[in-house]
Amino acid sequence: MFSDRSNWDQHPNALSILLQNKTSRGDAILDLTVSNPTRIGLDYDVGEILAALSQPRSMTYEPDPRGLMQAREAIAAYYADHGEDVDSDAVFLTASTSEAYSILFKLLGNPGDEILIPKPGYPLLSYLACFEGLNAVSYPLRYDDRKGWSMDMDVLQALINPKTKAIVLVNPNNPTGSYVRRRELTELGQVCRDNGLALIVDEVFSDFMAAENPDRVQTAVNHSNALTFVLNGFSKTLALPQVKLGWIVVTGDPDLSVKAMSRLEMMLDFYLSSSAPVQYAAKRLLQQRQMIQRQIFSRIASNTSFLEEQIATISNIRSLIREAGWYAAIEISDAVSDENRVVQLLDQDNTLVHPGYFYDFHRDGFLVVSLLPPVDIFSAGITRLIARFGG
Ligand SMILES: Cc1ncc(COP(=O)(O)O)c(C=O)c1O
Repeated sequence: MFSDRSNWDQHPNALSILLQNKTSRGDAILDLTVSNPTRIGLDYDVGEILAALSQPRSMTYEPDPRGLMQAREAIAAYYADHGEDVDSDAVFLTASTSEAYSILFKLLGNPGDEILIPKPGYPLLSYLACFEGLNAVSYPLRYDDRKGWSMDMDVLQALINPKTKAIVLVNPNNPTGSYVRRRELTELGQVCRDNGLALIVDEVFSDFMAAENPDRVQTAVNHSNALTFVLNGFSKTLALPQVKLGWIVVTGDPDLSVKAMSRLEMMLDFYLSSSAPVQYAAKRLLQQRQMIQRQIFSRIASNTSFLEEQIATISNIRSLIREAGWYAAIEISDAVSDENRVVQLLDQDNTLVHPGYFYDFHRDGFLVVSLLPPVDIFSAGITRLIARFGG
């Protein structure tokens, strides 16, 4: 009866069974995987956010396939703050970045076509591709002890075949926190143009830069000459995933952009999924950005310093170079498999971390922690991790 694309193995793994048992027993877990920003004790301006979302004009339905003009202008103003000129007609609103992906996959691929995604990378991408009948093929990011992460352009190009339709770039990438370099974006643009591919650039973490670097691309908007779709949304930029607003900015090749926008407009007209209250609220909500981001930066800075100080003298544990984002990738050199490590840590120390394989790291020996947990939880969890596996 059901489609192949919904036929996922839904059996819980050892880690999720253990977590379920512990949670139902009432054990206090130090959760170093938390990515829900509304659960980490941020101080939101609740009155202003709810007032912005309850404007009486939301009671009139004024459907616009691209999204209401006021909201698109607010998004264009966000890019103006980043030094980029964006035409509000090149902005298309969705309910989330995930939905934006699924619209773009429908726009670009026929069933059985391929998209290229980064490895290590965000696990949801291959599922989103599959739901649209596409195959996600991973291209590797390589790690260098001095320079951090970079793209392997030769391997990426060798993966392109007549079924390839788009390259997905997550900038900065989740979980590696690495930005694409200017030179890489230029090269990628050429690869896309030579092969008739679109570029999809997911920038949900782009505001969360750890340190200035003139080489990195903070946004691909106006900086790519291939047909490019830049994705972002309120779930990370404003730490408000529950208000549900995402967007696509169409940029790059002018002729292809016009064609893409006309098709996108038609497709989005069938969904009209972004709600009026959030669209009318967009401008006011974006004014909350600095206040919310400041708190996240401060949390990340405290947790990062704790982590670095604690592992400085531990010879078999190091954190990988991180340029941005909400996560830290940690490498542990020992003979323990990732699966055993995360199960052991939860079982013996009530501490939850993500194994590297969850993000498709190329081998065992990596784990990923969120830098968002309250400092006392983060530091207690890291202390337990080091006590168990530090050598
Ligand atoms: C890289 C990346 N893109 C997109 C999303 C999803 O964003 P949204 O909540 O807007 O669908 C996430 C969520 O964690 C993410 O990590």
